[in-house]
Amino acid sequence: MNDRRTFLKTACKPLVLAAMGISVIEACSKEDNENNPIIKDPSSETTNEPILLDLGNSSFSELKNIGGWINYSNENILLVRIDENEVRAFDNKCPHQGNRDKWSYNGSDFTCGYHNNSYSNSCGGQLTCFTTKLEDDILTITN
Ligand code: FES
Repeated sequence: MNDRRTFLKTACKPLVLAAMGISVIEACSKEDNENNPIIKDPSSETTNEPILLDLGNSSFSELKNIGGWINYSNENILLVRIDENEVRAFDNKCPHQGNRDKWSYNGSDFTCGYHNNSYSNSCGGQLTCFTTKLEDDILTITN
């Protein structure tokens, strides 16, 4: 178990993904891994391929603690740490009028600052919830 964990933390991310059966064409340089938290970004593609994020990147430091959250506008998603093993991801488009940029979080509900409507952090709530899988620091998000 520790060998696997050490491998996932230290190996080049594309190699890790290749070991997981996911093909990615990227360079394996230390600089790339430190500056780019997105391991695979399908936004320029027309398919619904997963988004892979490296939560070990400093861009996601808020997600280290339970209850930590961010509005990750690069991908239009709200991310919240639920517990040790779960990070939930929601579309950051407000169900009321579609605004994406004035969110706050109180530990159980997101509130949109435009008209102060609140939405549960439950995947059964009004916010569109994506499927996530967390393996070490690699978060996989699928529609
Ligand atoms: S747009 Fe979010 S509450 Fe109205």
